Parts: sequence; structure tokens; C-alpha cells
Amino acid sequence: MKGVLLAGGTGTRLRPLTNVVNKHLLPVGGYPMIYYGIRRLKEAGIEDILIVIGKQSAGLYIDYLGGGSELGVRLTYKVQEKAGGIAEALALASGFIETGEKFIVLLGDNLFSDSLLPYVEAFSRQPEGARVVLTSVEDARRYGVPVISDGRIVSIIEKPSEPHSNYCVTGIYMYDTKVFEHIAKLSPSARGELEITDINNRYAADGLLAYSVMKDWWTDAGTFESLMEAGRVLREGE
Ligand code: G1P
Repeated sequence: MKGVLLAGGTGTRLRPLTNVVNKHLLPVGGYPMIYYGIRRLKEAGIEDILIVIGKQSAGLYIDYLGGGSELGVRLTYKVQEKAGGIAEALALASGFIETGEKFIVLLGDNLFSDSLLPYVEAFSRQPEGARVVLTSVEDARRYGVPVISDGRIVSIIEKPSEPHSNYCVTGIYMYDTKVFEHIAKLSPSARGELEITDINNRYAADGLLAYSVMKDWWTDAGTFESLMEAGRVLREGE
């Protein structure tokens, strides 16, 4: 299975740090943030990885990672020219993933302790569709929140003002190549972006959205508070 690591975006909640360098290169624990996603993919046996970056700091990714050999992976890069949403960034993977191939997508600011292997294995056994990974959080209003009925995700509500559950959808997604057909049919949301939640809801509507639940620590390091927490947790684990 191949992996796609999404590392574009503007990182507005981390300004002024992100005025200087792209969010996914900020230091966390002992490494630039992007390192952890590559390491988790490699540990799960995923060595062919596409990194989607923005124009900001593009040269710094090459300075740090090059072709990936030092980390034991093969890296391909694509540039998302402006921040048009996670699903728009994902569309850039269509030439990298071959027809009929399944793949895993990580948001580069999602940091976690669990191995990806059980999720990847579960998705390999899944005949078709998509799979998301859920975790419980204190304030689900910041995230996509799943509506689960009879053990199945029937829909995901993005940043609900009154979440009915304390589970959120993490930025770990697995798809078959039907995802590119779904993206082609998407319209921008109210904030002008192609939303990953709209893609996942298309799979949910077809009854093809499976899920796994995370056991250990997870954070979306997109705010100062979560970035500091991630630094502390990951430094202790090193
Ligand atoms: C995105 C997704 C959201 C998900 C979150 C996980 O939110 O839209 O559904 O819960 O990533 O990190 P964003 O960080 O773009 O606001």
C-alpha cells in the first residue's frame, strides 16, 4: 500500500511561527513535525510516500528529507499551489496511486502513538470503500464528528456546535481509487474549500465507510496548546 502525507495549508492558528516556516516543519519533540508521519508510515511497511506541500518552505522539505533514503522511504512531492482544502490536496495524488490500488492518507499535523498497522491490515481485508480512524476527545466541536448507528458510520458532521458524541474523526484516512471520482464531483464548502468530510460522507451514504478506534495518545498539532503538548509527549517517548 502507498501513503500520502498532506503537508500544505497556511497554519493560521500558529501565526506568527507559520509566517516563517510551514507548519509541518515546526519543531516537535526532537524533530520537524513531518518526520513523525513518515515514521509511522514506514513502521507500518509503507515506504512509497507522496508528500503534498504548499509553495511555502518547499525547498526546506528537500533540504531535510531529500528523496527519503535516510528514513528508509521513497518520497515523491507534489505542490498544492493554494490552500484549497484537504480534498483538493488529495486530488493531486491521482497520478501517484494506480487504478484499483488502495492507499492511506495522513494529515501531517496529526501526531499519535498508535501503530498504523492494524488499521492498514483491516483496510486490506475490506473489499472496497473507505476507512477512518476515530478517537475520543474532550472538545469534539473542533473536529469532524461521526454519527454511528448499528456499528456503522452513517454520516460525519464537521465542527458541530453541539456534538452528540465525544468521538472525532482523526486525520488518518484510507481510500480506494473511487475517491478521485468523488473529489471530481465536489463543490467548495462555505469556507471555499473542498472538504474531506464531504468525501467521507459520500462513502457513508453508499454504506462503504468503515472505522477503527484509536487506543493511545493523539493530537492535531494545529494550535499552540496542542503543539506544546505534542512536543512534551513525543520528547518523553524518544
Ligand atoms: C480536519 C478535518 C476534520 C478532522 C481534523 C483532524 O479539520 O476537516 O474532520 O477531525 O482535520 O485533525 P481541520 O484541521 O482542517 O480543521
